[in-house]
Amino acid sequence: MSDDLLTAEVVEPLLRGRLGKPYRFEQRTASTQDLLDPEMHEGAVAVAEEQTAGRGRMGRRWEAPPGTAIHCSVLLKPPPTRRPPELSLVAGVAVADAVERTIGLAVQIKWPNDVMLRRWKVAGCLAEQRGPAVVLGIGINVNQRRDQLPPVTGAPPGSLYLATGREWPRAPLLAMLLADLERCYSEWLASGLEAIYPYLGSRDFLRGRRVSVDGTSGTAEMIDRDGRLRIAVDGNQSVAVESGEVSYER
Ligand code: BTN
Repeated sequence: MSDDLLTAEVVEPLLRGRLGKPYRFEQRTASTQDLLDPEMHEGAVAVAEEQTAGRGRMGRRWEAPPGTAIHCSVLLKPPPTRRPPELSLVAGVAVADAVERTIGLAVQIKWPNDVMLRRWKVAGCLAEQRGPAVVLGIGINVNQRRDQLPPVTGAPPGSLYLATGREWPRAPLLAMLLADLERCYSEWLASGLEAIYPYLGSRDFLRGRRVSVDGTSGTAEMIDRDGRLRIAVDGNQSVAVESGEVSYER
């Protein structure tokens, strides 16, 4: 898609809410996570066509060829009493909503921060604290072909293209994502995870699977209302895990 650009000229006219103001676009940068100053207004957004040091959770790299994916970071300023890690789940619901409406296929959320389509990871969310602010990074694999995806490190990577067999324009998807994120974030600010829980619980990818998280193994029961993963360990004991790297049986 040669005219599929994410420049300010293309994206700004599509924005309806307060996320994306200001909107900063870079052709090439180390990571969009480093482009937002906590002094900026809440809702500032940075987008790059290419990241040379894009990062994911657990020190992993996040890579995509220019022109194929969405790399976006959003500056948020939740009250200090709130738990920033919950924002990865809030972002996961927003990504799932925007992708489902765009491509018409059901999307799942793999605790704590992955968005899954047909058992492939197609998006990831990363909430990083910056003083009192949070930089919420979202990467969506949109039009990558199989040989353009990164090597498998956890969940196998996929893209919207691989799942549907066609390319998707990125600018309308990004605008929809920012509108959905604003709605989910506002609901979370007002009522916490409870507000988005119905959209989270119903999309729980791990539920019923055998999982292992940092030494705790068992069957994933659910994401609980505090955003933790509940695991039924052998002997029927239920354990809640706050964070960590999940391995699962496919
Ligand atoms: C993960 O799944 O581990 C999180 C991936 C987050 C990737 C996005 S892409 C935009 C932003 N910039 C980064 O360097 N990382 C996030």
